[in-house]
Amino acid sequence: MRRSWLALVLVLLAAGCSRDSWQRSPGPDDAVKLVPWFAFMEKGPAIQPYKMNRMPAEGAVPIDGMEPPLPVLPENFAAIDQLRNPALLTAESLDTGKKYYDIFCVPCHGETGAADGPVNAVMYIVPSLLTDRANDLSDGMIYSIIRHGRGAMRPYGEGVRGIDRWHVVNYVRQLQGASQ
Ligand code: HEC
Repeated sequence: MRRSWLALVLVLLAAGCSRDSWQRSPGPDDAVKLVPWFAFMEKGPAIQPYKMNRMPAEGAVPIDGMEPPLPVLPENFAAIDQLRNPALLTAESLDTGKKYYDIFCVPCHGETGAADGPVNAVMYIVPSLLTDRANDLSDGMIYSIIRHGRGAMRPYGEGVRGIDRWHVVNYVRQLQGASQ
C-alpha cells in the first residue's frame, strides 16, 4: 500500500515538473493567442534598452560640453598638456576666475595661493600654488586638476563648470605672476 502511494507521487512529480510547465502554467495569454489578431506580449517587439542609441532629449544642455573626461593620470598627461585655454586673459575672465577661486579654492590654497587657507591651517597637506612646480604645470593640467581632482584633492568640476574652470586657471596664473 505504501509503495503504491510512493509510486503515485513519483509519477505526479515526473509529469508535473518539466521545466517549462513549472516556470509557466497556462494563463489568459494562452487563450488570447488562439485569436490571431489579438496583440499579446509574447509576440510584441522586445525593447533592448542597451542596444539602442538613446540620444539626449531635444533641448538638453550638456553639463560638460562635448569634452571627453581626462582624469589626471599619467596615461593622460600628454593629452592634458595639449588642452588649449580658450578663455582670453581679460578683466572679465579674471573677475570670474576670482569669484570661483574665492568660493572653491581659498579654503585650502588661500587668498594669495600660498596654501594659507583655514583648512590647511589644520591639514598641512595643501601645496602652495606659487611654487616653481605649480608654475610649471600647464594650463591644461591646472584645468584638469580642478575638473577631476588629483591625489588628495577632490574634484571641483561640478562646482566650477566648463569655461569657468579656464577663468580660474587664468586667475591662478595671475596669483603666480603677482607672487614673483
Ligand atoms: C580641501 C582642500 C582643497 C581645495 C578646496 C582645493 N585644493 Fe587644490 N590641492 C589640494 C591638495 C591636498 C593638493 C595636493 C594634491 C595631490 O596630492 O596630488 C592640491 C593640489 C592642487 C594643485 C597642484 C599643485 C602642485 O604643485 O602640483 C593645483 C593646481 C590646485 N590644487 C588647484 C586648486 C584649485 C584651482 C582649486 C579650486 C577650484 C583647489 N585646488 C581647491 C587641496 C585642495
